[in-house]
Formats: sequence, C-alpha cells, structure tokens
Amino acid sequence: EAFKTRPFVDGAKTLIGGQVKPWTGIFSEIYSPVYCTETGERICIGKQATMSPKEAMEAVHAAAKAWDLGRGEWPQKSLQERIAVVERLVGKLKEKRMEIAKVLQWEICKNDADSVKEFDRTMDFVSALIETARKMNSGPAVCQEGIHAILKRSPMGVMMNLGPSNYPFNETYATLIPAILMGNSIVMKVPNTGGLAHFLTMEAYAECFPPGVVNFISGRGRDTMPPCMESGLVDIFAFIGSSKAADALVKAHPQPHRLKNLLSLDAKNLAIVLPDADLDVAVKEIVAGSTSFNGQRCTAIKLVMVHSSIAETFNQKFCSAVAALPCGLPFGKNHITPLACNPTSFMQSLTEDVKSKGARVLNEAVGGGHCDRTLFVPAVVYPVTAEMQLWTAEQFGPVIPIAPFDHLETPIEWLRKMPFGQQTALFTSNQAAAAPSKELSQLLDMCALSTCRVNLNAQCQRGPDMFPFAGRRSSAMGTISVEEVLRAVSVETMVASKNP
Ligand code: G3H
Repeated sequence: EAFKTRPFVDGAKTLIGGQVKPWTGIFSEIYSPVYCTETGERICIGKQATMSPKEAMEAVHAAAKAWDLGRGEWPQKSLQERIAVVERLVGKLKEKRMEIAKVLQWEICKNDADSVKEFDRTMDFVSALIETARKMNSGPAVCQEGIHAILKRSPMGVMMNLGPSNYPFNETYATLIPAILMGNSIVMKVPNTGGLAHFLTMEAYAECFPPGVVNFISGRGRDTMPPCMESGLVDIFAFIGSSKAADALVKAHPQPHRLKNLLSLDAKNLAIVLPDADLDVAVKEIVAGSTSFNGQRCTAIKLVMVHSSIAETFNQKFCSAVAALPCGLPFGKNHITPLACNPTSFMQSLTEDVKSKGARVLNEAVGGGHCDRTLFVPAVVYPVTAEMQLWTAEQFGPVIPIAPFDHLETPIEWLRKMPFGQQTALFTSNQAAAAPSKELSQLLDMCALSTCRVNLNAQCQRGPDMFPFAGRRSSAMGTISVEEVLRAVSVETMVASKNP
C-alpha cells in the first residue's frame, strides 16, 4: 500500500535572493533506501539541483546583501516584528506536516511514528524559541556605578547552516530558526541525504521573508562549501556532521578565529553496566539506546562495558531483546529499517574486523549481522577489546559492541582517552548511585569530566529538547538549548548613559 502513495519531490529549483526559480542545470536523482522486496529495485523519490561553486556563491552574496552590514531590512526589524514573520512561516510549514513526514520516511527510513515525531518536535522547539525570544525583547536595564545601560541582543551577520542526514529537518531548524529570529541571514546547505523535505518549504520562505534572508544551496558539499567559507562572508557556522568535515570547513575561513561555531559532531557514547544493576532495566534502555533509528544517532550508545560477573546473563537477555525487534521497510512499527546514513558494507566490515580478532556475533544464529540490500539486522558482538575498530570507531549503525571488564579503571581510562565526549549511561542500583563508593565516585567524576550528560539507569538521548544539548572535545562546540542557541547567534549590545 505504501508503495502506491510514495512521494516524488521536484527539487529542480532554487531559492536565492528571494525568488524560487526552476533549475535548468544538472541535478541528482534521489533514491530511497527502500527497495522493492520482489525485484530489489531501488525507488527514485525525487531530484535536486546540483549547484556549482559559482552558483553556491550567489547564495552567499544574496545573504550578505540581505544583511548589508546591519542595514538590511531584516536586521533592522524589531524582534517582535521578526517573531510575527516566523509565526507566519510556522503556519505554512504545519500545513505540510504529513507531506514532510512522508518524504523523511522514504528518504531516511524513519518509521510512521518517528517521521512525524521529527516534524512535531521541531515545531515544539520553534514555539519554545519564539516564547523565549519574546522575553528577550524587553531589553533588560542594568544600573551600576552611576551608569544606566539598556541591553539588547543584536544579529551577527550571515549564517552557513548544514544539517545532518539523520535529523535533516529537525537539526537544521535547531540553529536556522534562532538565527532568523535574531536577525541574521542564512545560507542553508541542504543535506545530500535527507534534504528533499527542504524543497517542499522553499515557497513558504520566499513568501514570508525579504529577499536573501534565507537562501538554499544543494549539491556536493566538497564542491560548494569551500568557496563559501573561503569568501570570508560567513559569520556563523552551524554544522552537524563529521568532525573531519567541520575541521576542514572551519579552516577554510580566512579568519577562523572570528567565526562563531555551533557544531555537533562525532560521538562514541559509552554504557557501563555495574554488577548491582537491574539487568532488565539496563537491557531495555541499552537496546533502545543502541538500536533506535538503527543506531544512526549521534546520541546512540556505541560501546557497552559490562562487568564480567554479569556479562553472560546480560548478553543472553540482550540478545533475546534484540531478536524481538521488528525489522523491515520503514512502514508501520518496524524498529529496524533500511540504513540511510552509512552503507551496510561498513557494518559488515566492522563485524568482520571483530571476528578476525577473536570476538563473535552472539546473535548470528538468529540473523544478527545478516544483510539484505540496505537492511542490516543488528549484530551483537562480544567480547570487544582495544585492538578492534569498534573500541573507538563510531559505527553510526546497528552493530552493538559489548566489552567485559573487571575493574572500574577500564571504563575510567577509556573515558579519559576518548577524543569525543558527548554522553554516558551508567547502570547501577539507585542506592549505590546515591552513596557511591570511592571507585564509583571516580567513575562518576570521569563521566562528568569527559562528557556532558551522565544518564543514570537510562539510555543516552538529546531530549527532552528543552534540556541543554552539548559535547566536549571533538564532539561539539556550543550548546543547543532554547536560550543558549538564541544567545549564540546574537551579540549582547548596550546603550549606556550616565544617570542624570
Ligand atoms: O544524532 C544526533 C541527534 O541529536 C540525536 O537526537 O537523541 O533525540 O535521537 P536523539
């Protein structure tokens, strides 16, 4: 049934400088990871413009013109006026809720509930941004040492915004809408995977905003992005993706030190299961944390360390829970769906690597690690050791490495040395967590010193979305939370006068 109503998005168009124009240049056809189960044929669900570096630069120039070093129509509007325009945009986007969700479902294979949730949680976040921005408008006054100052948040200029393929709508909007609200102009680079939904929104942007406030680039990032960054016209760089790509693009800016970076990058989140943990809770949370959206989440649990004394029981329970996950095309309630972000061949190479170094796919007999075109049945691999790629590599997919440990020094040292630091999940009895032993305190300290969120007896996750979302080391720069992100894309300025 789903095949009969599959979407087709005509992304042979551009929005640069205020007008949506048909695209006559080269374009890419976008294929869904969904395949026809009878013929194996992949399904084309749209096309999108493939811009050249020169065309991408037109978008940057249009954004710079709209900013006009602060004299543009948009930065000159009051925050209240900008909020009214964003509310109009939200109304138009909501009319397309199901259309956007369906395109996300086909392009990146989120199931029925998750594709709609991506849209809904975005709109909830936008409502919270608007409410918070409204309060910022009142311009607090401070008075000290006889000087009276009225504070105001002012825009910064041009934002280059690149969202990821796993949350192409939601995570683009997490920085796009704050930047618009605060008076900046935007160049949005549509993700090559997951970006089709943005083409459904171009007309809404063109109708709501003055020319050049929001511009779209599509095409190969490695061609289009370097000249945009080299131009020096970008003031804010909002990027969600790989640490390597972010490093290269930041360095391409002629004055990287004056670029405002908002980055959410690679992560390797560790779950630690202590001997006193409630194993049913640990299994339920770690299965969800490592397999939701096939593990294609920066917040996914990507390594599990289990105390040797309970490893056998944990592994049995874990494999049974994984075997019960519904697998298939992204319709209905299927939990494991075709991969959109990494190829299945990468998952196979990771499992081959551990097998060649002495570990096993524990659930191989019930299909673990089995691959059918774009679908990869989660592989639970054990015992993972430091020589194996999965000890440090980010799999971003459904391979779940489990490592036994005897002493807390093992997770402590792993955390200390990891180049990434987003979240940890610690499973122990509540009693032990409330009154930790010296060793457990050291572990808790190291979790807090090397990551930004310690989840006690719960999986790692970004939500609730009003919580701050951040990372240390090479995992992130800047915090995404409603208020922090509005602040990050604006500058606090003041008019100070001597008290009469
Ligand atoms: O991929 C990174 C996302 O921020 C993860 O968000 O934890 O809500 O799935 P999530």
